[in-house]
Amino acid sequence: MSKLLKILLFLLPAVLHTANGHSLAQPFWCFWSKADLSDMELIEPYVFNKIKYLEYNSTLGKYVGYTELGIKNADRLNNDPAELAARKADVESVCKNNAGNYYSAILSKTVEPQVRVKLVKKSDGTHPARLMCSAYRFFPPQITVTWLRNGKEIKGGVTSTEEMADGDWYYQIHSHLEYMPESGEQISCVVEHASFKQPMEYKWDPSMSEPDKSKIAIGASGLVLGIVLSAAGFIYYKKKASGRILVPT
Ligand SMILES: *[C@@H]1O[C@H](CO)[C@@H](O)[C@H](O)[C@H]1NC(C)=O
Repeated sequence: MSKLLKILLFLLPAVLHTANGHSLAQPFWCFWSKADLSDMELIEPYVFNKIKYLEYNSTLGKYVGYTELGIKNADRLNNDPAELAARKADVESVCKNNAGNYYSAILSKTVEPQVRVKLVKKSDGTHPARLMCSAYRFFPPQITVTWLRNGKEIKGGVTSTEEMADGDWYYQIHSHLEYMPESGEQISCVVEHASFKQPMEYKWDPSMSEPDKSKIAIGASGLVLGIVLSAAGFIYYKKKASGRILVPT
């Protein structure tokens, strides 16, 4: 499930001027996909009233004009070695420099997923049971979730969501397994992620699911509390009743 991550950095000085109903935008884009930044590309478009008329492309090493005004400016700028050298230098000083900070601050970091296995649907003997293995709050998004039955990977009956962005740099994923339970078997969910030294196995305990356990715990606590309170009430009542008799008249 590992995907090539194409990264894009939108940098200052990105300019948007608006006046008299006209607009001029001058964003500054850095594109790369390799961690060593060797394929870094700087793109600097000049956009007037939403129409791109000129663009600097560092891979081409020059400006390209798209309108009459753009072509005129491209010719002028491309014949200025100092201008081209300055733009080429921006690839190092602006793009690679910022991307380096980006890596050390964010992209090189990993956060372990929190994994839960739970029963979604019980088997009634003829229809399969459904389990869900959920991994929460991990980074980066690349992750692999598989299922094992007695140590062997289960190929059929597995469906998974995409790695879903929480919108705060963290991701979550949910893998479902449909299977016919057999006695004595061991089902587990295996998660592979950059934050783990080795694949982590999470065993499914079919004897009792979590909600059942907590329901029993709440019920037992209620019962104990009830017994204690009625005993206390009974003792209090007995004391009061006998006390009344002992009061001298
Ligand atoms: C920049 O130029 C290269 C070489 O022609 C091209 O492959 C690339 O797609 C261009 N980049 C953009 C964003 O247009």
